[in-house]
Amino acid sequence: MPAWTPDSWRGKPIQQAPVYPDLGALGDVERQLGGFPPLVFAGEARKLKRTLAKVSMGEGFLLQGGDCAESFAEHSADNIRDFFRVFLQMAVVLTFGAALPVVKVGRVAGQFAKPRTNPTETFEGMELPIYRGDIINDSGYSLKSRTPDPTRQLEAYRQSAATLNLLRAFAWGGYANLANAHRWMLGFVNDSPQSGRYQELADRITETLGFMRAIGLDAEEHQELSRTDFYTSHEALLLGYEQSLTRVDSTSGDHYATSGHMIWIGDRTRQFDHAHVEYCRGVKNPLGLKCGPSIKPDDLLRLIDILNPSNEAGRLTLIARFGSEKVGDGLPALVRAVKREGRAVVWSCDPMHGNTISAGGFKTRPFDRIMSEIRTFFAVHQAEGTYAGGVHLEMTGKNVTECTGGARAISEGDLSSRYHTFCDPRLNAEQAIEVAFLIAQLLKDERGHALPKEAAAE
Ligand code: PEP
Ligand code: CO
Repeated sequence: MPAWTPDSWRGKPIQQAPVYPDLGALGDVERQLGGFPPLVFAGEARKLKRTLAKVSMGEGFLLQGGDCAESFAEHSADNIRDFFRVFLQMAVVLTFGAALPVVKVGRVAGQFAKPRTNPTETFEGMELPIYRGDIINDSGYSLKSRTPDPTRQLEAYRQSAATLNLLRAFAWGGYANLANAHRWMLGFVNDSPQSGRYQELADRITETLGFMRAIGLDAEEHQELSRTDFYTSHEALLLGYEQSLTRVDSTSGDHYATSGHMIWIGDRTRQFDHAHVEYCRGVKNPLGLKCGPSIKPDDLLRLIDILNPSNEAGRLTLIARFGSEKVGDGLPALVRAVKREGRAVVWSCDPMHGNTISAGGFKTRPFDRIMSEIRTFFAVHQAEGTYAGGVHLEMTGKNVTECTGGARAISEGDLSSRYHTFCDPRLNAEQAIEVAFLIAQLLKDERGHALPKEAAAE
């Protein structure tokens, strides 16, 4: 492999790159970012990698989720808190339900840049550059709004820092204490079909904590009960920004992307000899790789060789995003190839991006298809003797109507009432918790299957 440097991607072909009209201004912004403090530390990224290594061995489950695209307009403490509490609820459902440690990774504090199918769109006869996420341009319908503006990267950095600061406070400062499990319930979820199930589980946690206290195990001494590790992730799409936030870790001498703990390569930018793969191969963070229906087993093995040549467990998470109708046919060949070659990976399921349809002028995702893709994903791993290690969701803590279906049966006609996403349709809080209950059950079943086999071997 030729030498890697933080800017070696610049010599490669690139997909999805915005065209900045003023390269001088772009250079100024990149230089400023280069002098700013890192958002995350190498030691944290390494800790996440070690935790994901356990997941790759079946000793944990990765819960990754958040907005499709964060936005400058909706940056408030309430939004961050509501997202975090739903995330905690889902994690508790999974941990308690499946008796497994859950690795919590938000699509948050840096998830701003979006790959798009078309470079332009036509609005009232005017051809405009497409909206590529708030870090690049504005979604308004004018040429001025849509022209890529490098100073938006400074705003994205500032917003990521503020979001991360609040998330760290929530995770470490008492909010995530398991004794608060009842209080994480959001008002509007209270009267939902998921509420009873969740209250019951929270009651059991309260009872267990009471028992632990009675025998002398106290939350003060056992910080696992009162705080949690929460990590950030985003698609490493805007490579100038990523390069500017790349730092050498003084303890190891290695390069890390310090824009987030984990970064991933999107399904549209995973060409093995292109810029995005080149950038990601050189940083030591845990990496995600989206795998859609067009990837062939040989392409995947080649990418694994480039991104994880030493076969380090925890380095690479393969995020399958096929769609409910394709996953059963497409996934087994990939899983088999990876298993045959003895590659240590986490297999995660993104049941969102292959299940987007149009209905009544809105992009939506039917809840049944999301559930169906998750079920098939687990079934494939069961059949292949591999481990279904995670899920990757687009979700929000808000009471939106963007995905149809779920226990409250949101209809196509309901979509217009609270359709707030800046990009793809997200699960609302209730739907997200419903998905967590389904996965907890699938994990229980998976472990139930594993137990008799082990017992039989003894
Ligand atoms: C995304 O995760 O928002 C995304 C664009 O996914 P994919 O690259 O899998 O299409
Ligand atoms: Co999306």
